[in-house]
Amino acid sequence: MMTSRILLVDDDEALCISIAGQLHAGGFETVIVSRIGEAVISLKSHTFDAVVTDVNLPDGNGIELASQVRTQWPDIPVLVMTAYGNMDTAVAALRAGAADFISKPVDMELLTLSLGRAVETRRLKQELRSLKSMMSQDMSVFGFVGDSAPMKRLFGLIARTAATDVTALITGESGTGKEMVAQSIHHQSSRRAGPFVAINCTALPETLLESELFGYIKGAFTDARADHQGLLQRAHGGTLFLDEIGDMPLGLQGKLLRVLEQRTFRPVGATREVAFDARIISATHADLAAAVNDKKFREDLYYRLNVLQLSLPPLRERGRDVLLLAQFFVEQMAPRMGVAVSAIRHDAAKKLLVYPWPGNVRELKNCIERALALCEADEITVADLPDRIAETHSIQSIVRENQPTELVTLDELEKRYIQKVLTILGGNKAQTARVLGIERKSLYRKLERMGK
Ligand SMILES: Nc1ncnc2c1ncn2[C@@H]1O[C@H](COP(=O)(O)OP(=O)(O)OP(=O)(O)O)[C@@H](O)[C@H]1O
Ligand SMILES: [Mg+2]
Repeated sequence: MMTSRILLVDDDEALCISIAGQLHAGGFETVIVSRIGEAVISLKSHTFDAVVTDVNLPDGNGIELASQVRTQWPDIPVLVMTAYGNMDTAVAALRAGAADFISKPVDMELLTLSLGRAVETRRLKQELRSLKSMMSQDMSVFGFVGDSAPMKRLFGLIARTAATDVTALITGESGTGKEMVAQSIHHQSSRRAGPFVAINCTALPETLLESELFGYIKGAFTDARADHQGLLQRAHGGTLFLDEIGDMPLGLQGKLLRVLEQRTFRPVGATREVAFDARIISATHADLAAAVNDKKFREDLYYRLNVLQLSLPPLRERGRDVLLLAQFFVEQMAPRMGVAVSAIRHDAAKKLLVYPWPGNVRELKNCIERALALCEADEITVADLPDRIAETHSIQSIVRENQPTELVTLDELEKRYIQKVLTILGGNKAQTARVLGIERKSLYRKLERMGK
């Protein structure tokens, strides 16, 4: 963590030294000045992450300093120290653009918390601005956005997979981008000039799925009035993407295995074999190994499909990628929707960062689309987010929820956090366990102890 530089403006030297000492322990470096004139000179010559100022100063008023900082250095938050109980001054300070006010005598814990929050907001604002310029340089690979460590590893794996012609299995929760991975592999592979053909194994009943995949010849069955080319053949020279492979009926699994082993197949009703020449990429959100154990998925086919496995991390494990993706979707969708929104405000960004995204990137994309439709300004704000997201709180604010200084035990914090996640996810325990990163059984035990 970088240390933050604070400009402290107060003519009470003893107080300044004491505050600076305590802030130092909290990871802040402090520069002390006693007049507004000196404060302005310091601001012009150095960078600060925040300003903390007293109200009555020898050469003027701290509230005026707050409004001057707001116009000249709009990114630097100002905290105003006001006499205890003097609400008029506090309100005047906030009106002048102060980020917060702190009552005197100064409660150091509160000052540190408030400064931490103000500095975090400033960083977030800077980050959001730099995201905008990053996007305009089009940093995504085929519109596939990600800058977090697990996504960079995945991009490397995609490139290595694309360089081979082996079958690949893509795993990941729903909405994590499995189909995008399949397309990226195809577009980077030597088969890129060939077709990319996708089929969702969940969507069709067994007989239809079979005739879709293998095709049929005229007269193969009552409705077969003409030859029908199957997807196995349409994918010739390209890539065949089998989505939700876990839902393929057992009978068809055997037939698919045969295609993979012999590199030929026979359309329904045909007498001759046809050559199969496509790379198969399959995807599943289910645990295929478990399905193999339960005899719902053929083990031999599993090993055939799973030569290379690419697993997509859930969005909640991708850190700041949430903001990168959100900005990407704003820039992608706003022009199409004909709205003049170009950014995400820091208050909304904070919520996006703490919400656990059970529906992953797809949920984020829908959320941004909805926000763009509702947004009345040129930035998306918290008011444009759905309630479940706007009402998410960081762990820090869960701690602060009732009393600013209330500190709870880890046990209590855990209980509150579990309750929070459970509420956000509408009481879905399986999802809650996933978001919390624990086994379902262990969630049940914890809930039982909480009397749920
Ligand atoms: N990293 C990303 N960058 C940009 N867009 C993404 C990214 N990941 C996913 N998307 C977008 O999010 C949506 C969902 O992605 P996709 O359909 O690939 O997910 P999936 O894992 O196949 O989901 P499901 O399991 O529901 O089928 C798509 O609109 C896709 O374009
Ligand atoms: Mg999909």
